[in-house]
Amino acid sequence: MNPIPPRRHFASDNYAGVCPEAWAALADANQGHAPGYGEDAWTQKATDLIREIFETHCEVFFVFNGTAANSLSLASMCQSYHSILCHELAHIEADECGAPEFFSNGTKVLLMPGDQGKIDPGGIERMIKKRTDIHYPKPRAVSLTQSTELGTVYSPDEIKAIWAKAKSFGLKIHMDGARFANAVAALGVAPKEVTWQAGVDVLCFGGTKNGIPVGEAVVFFDRELAGEFDYRCKQGGQLASKMRFISAPWVGMLQDGAWLRHATHANTMAGYLESKLRPLAQVKILFPRQANAVFAELPRPAIDGLRAKGWKFYTFIGAGGCRLMCAWDTSTEDVDAFAADLQALLPIAGS
Ligand SMILES: Cc1ncc(COP(=O)(O)O)c(C=O)c1O
Repeated sequence: MNPIPPRRHFASDNYAGVCPEAWAALADANQGHAPGYGEDAWTQKATDLIREIFETHCEVFFVFNGTAANSLSLASMCQSYHSILCHELAHIEADECGAPEFFSNGTKVLLMPGDQGKIDPGGIERMIKKRTDIHYPKPRAVSLTQSTELGTVYSPDEIKAIWAKAKSFGLKIHMDGARFANAVAALGVAPKEVTWQAGVDVLCFGGTKNGIPVGEAVVFFDRELAGEFDYRCKQGGQLASKMRFISAPWVGMLQDGAWLRHATHANTMAGYLESKLRPLAQVKILFPRQANAVFAELPRPAIDGLRAKGWKFYTFIGAGGCRLMCAWDTSTEDVDAFAADLQALLPIAGS
């Protein structure tokens, strides 16, 4: 055993390991034989728990990762001549290597600007009215990310306003919920209030960033869209033969509320990190800190200095913009150590 725990990072919540609840469920599932391809009791239990949490009879499928969840679910909503409207920073556009277009045989992703990583009803209308002729791909779905790529969250009213606009143009709503748990924890709402009660047709419910080893759940509130989705998963290489090892961790996470506890903790750590950074004169907090990410602009030498000290974090927002992401296992000591290293690297005011 290593007596010194390795230092945690702020690069991504997927840098974190598996949380104890998910790990224990995996161990429990590892007994004897069980039917494959999702015909096992763990997968049934995980599906039942998701239905309970959302308080509705949704259709649920477990896949290996978020790219597959997003791409396959969007493909189930669209024909190849359709388009999907999303924010210009959306993961489906920027970080999925064209998978949504690939799995839907060419559905075009159309990008919209929007403050703080969010799309808005006006943007949807502008995008739709820009072209309505036969030569342009027909808008079919709106995709929003909850919490967003910039760490902000959509309120139930904001989602409902998007729904009203989407519905008026006959569009379906897809939600990339890679950090859905963090959004629900931040808002303090029932999961149904920010999903099917606000018009969401399909949610890609993220497990990995919440503490599961691998896997996301595709949750169809519009059950008609789920028709033959099992075949899509199989064709896309996303039907796990030993499915119980994908679904059991969900049982561990959902049965006693660990998913929300861990998300709340990650959000709290991000709040603590923000409180440490905000007083530093050379540091600028870039977006409202609402979930488990802090975006901050740091002087270039400080970024280089932190990296030289071994800290890992992403810089993809403009010049000096750093994304600092907290996870279920981030501790106050991690935050203190990072903040102390940063402070030591900043020039003393007036010098
Ligand atoms: C907003 C968002 N959506 C989806 C994903 C899932 O991606 P992956 O295919 O790596 O699981 C991520 C992971 O970084 C993400 O940040």
